[in-house]
Amino acid sequence: MEILDNKNLKNIIELKNIGQSYDGGKNWIIKDLNLIIEDKPNQGQFVVILGMSGSGKSTLLRYIAGLQKPTVGEVIVNGFPVTENTHISMVFQQYSSLPWMTVLDNVALALKFQHITRDERNERAMEMIKLVGLSGHENKYAMYPTLSGGQLQRVAIARSLLANPEILLMDEPFGALDIKTRLQMQDLLTEIWEKFHSTVIFVTHDISEAVYLGDDIYIMKSPPSKFVEYINVDLPLKRNRETKRNPRYTELVHYVEDTMMKVSGME
Ligand SMILES: Nc1ncnc2c1ncn2[C@@H]1O[C@H](COP(=O)(O)OP(=O)(O)OP(=O)(O)O)[C@@H](O)[C@H]1O
Ligand SMILES: [Mg+2]
Repeated sequence: MEILDNKNLKNIIELKNIGQSYDGGKNWIIKDLNLIIEDKPNQGQFVVILGMSGSGKSTLLRYIAGLQKPTVGEVIVNGFPVTENTHISMVFQQYSSLPWMTVLDNVALALKFQHITRDERNERAMEMIKLVGLSGHENKYAMYPTLSGGQLQRVAIARSLLANPEILLMDEPFGALDIKTRLQMQDLLTEIWEKFHSTVIFVTHDISEAVYLGDDIYIMKSPPSKFVEYINVDLPLKRNRETKRNPRYTELVHYVEDTMMKVSGME
């Protein structure tokens, strides 16, 4: 019999009656948006958010990271209103590496406030640098054009993964990567997620990526935005190359695509 720890059964992230306006309530970008993401004990959660450009996806991630407060509504993480101190990592849509530091120092920064030696920090950072395919670049400054756009994004991803946060927010993290690196990063993310069971909230415009990675997909409609569709991805939990050969995978990709078209009024 599985013994469940009650502490783990509470909702991990809750957005309640969220509204966002930037002009004193004349126009609403987000309206009446509700979302509950429950932590599944010993499994974590992989949630994907899809929606047209401008529907408010990055805004939602900023709420959950405690970087922005909605005009109305509440953002609760682990039972408490979110603060900047909640253990959350975010990979931003724009590159977020520090150009005055080397790749190694950028990645090792994730462990800075943990009580471990500099040597161990660097060793673990080097493992992650290797995993994201940046070996040999560790002593370069994390700036463009010393590193390409995709390489800089991998620095940010390595830092976020090394921090092993309870909640990992990823805003179109693979958008700038070439197709080979993108597929490798998808697989790396699933492998890491299986090990750490964190809650990942992942924004993408790529429907096949959404189905490949997600357990739950939420689709947002355009302003005034709210979630209008929820799709449970009933594929085996463990995702790998075989998943993409599964007829159910193709079916789900088509279903999500049709739903996106319907939601955006193209059908
Ligand atoms: N400070 C601000 N002042 C006014 N409008 C803002 C501000 N911040 C965001 N917005 C608007 O809010 C809307 C949602 O922005 P957001 O960046 O969350 O969209 P998104 O879904 O992430 O889009 P994309 O897919 O293009 O990244 C946009 O129309 C944007 O112009
Ligand atoms: Mg965005």
